[in-house]
Amino acid sequence: MNLQFAEEIIEGLSSTPKQLSSKWFYDKIGDGLFVKIMNMPEYYLTDAEYEIFSKQTSAILDEFEVNKSQLELYELGAGDGTKTIQLLKAMDPKNFTYHPIDISENALNQLQERLAKELPEVSVAPVQGEYFEVLESLSKNESKIILFLGSNLGNMHDDVAKQFIKQLAEQMQAGDKLLLGLDKMKSKAIILPAYNDKQGYTEAFNLNLLSRINSEFDADFNLAQFEHRPNYDEETGIASSALVSKCKQTVNIKSLDRTFEFEENESIQTEISRKYNLDILENVFAGSGLAIKKEFNDSRNYFMNVLLEKN
Ligand code: AVJ
Repeated sequence: MNLQFAEEIIEGLSSTPKQLSSKWFYDKIGDGLFVKIMNMPEYYLTDAEYEIFSKQTSAILDEFEVNKSQLELYELGAGDGTKTIQLLKAMDPKNFTYHPIDISENALNQLQERLAKELPEVSVAPVQGEYFEVLESLSKNESKIILFLGSNLGNMHDDVAKQFIKQLAEQMQAGDKLLLGLDKMKSKAIILPAYNDKQGYTEAFNLNLLSRINSEFDADFNLAQFEHRPNYDEETGIASSALVSKCKQTVNIKSLDRTFEFEENESIQTEISRKYNLDILENVFAGSGLAIKKEFNDSRNYFMNVLLEKN
């Protein structure tokens, strides 16, 4: 049994409002559904970042100052690597080692196989583990660039993101760089469909959290009695998802020896996907010792990659 998951289920379903963290979306089925989501036309984030990486490759690599010294390129939550490969292709394989970091062994194996086929000259040294366990184990003397793409930062509330960036910065030395991929604040008409695709993959992605609890903890969530409800608040810039109980019901989680009551219309908060502007970012980066060196935007101005440097 995954003890951390068990604890978070008990705590999250006992609080008001009920909540479960989006980090538990990503089991094998969840990984597969997320790939499907990324391929949906509504999910513009991936296309926008891919466009930045493929059209502004040399401008990004100039900022990396790759030729200064041997470079260690880390990527937090590398996924299937489609975007990063655009950069790797344009870099001299003699100059760097690529270290994808991921909690999922499965994702890392797939990425390694893909890179062996597409870019056999690049040295790849994957690391399986939690981001900070890995980062804390790194040598301070190497020159490094850390990639954190796909607006993954947006799953954190600003105070948590701020702490996260500060901790990241503590593992960096003067001159080291961090490239963040961040989704921008914009109209609800564009953002909401990205979290409510017509094919229903996002709905399945959210509901998979409940079926995961059913199979891992012998629970009896009836998926037909829960509904995926996405929302976007243009004022705050926060997209959020919830699973809403369609009726009054009781759920048993046998392995945890618990039952939870749901009222009709009661929700479980599952995810926030924060959208950014420079003011919000200034607050998130304040006090970290990182400064913005350059900003790259896609042609529609939906998404940005921000390059930060440690002072
Ligand atoms: C991978 C966290 C960036 O929040 O947009 C996609 C995950 N959730 N559709 C996001 C997600 C619903 C995604 N991130």
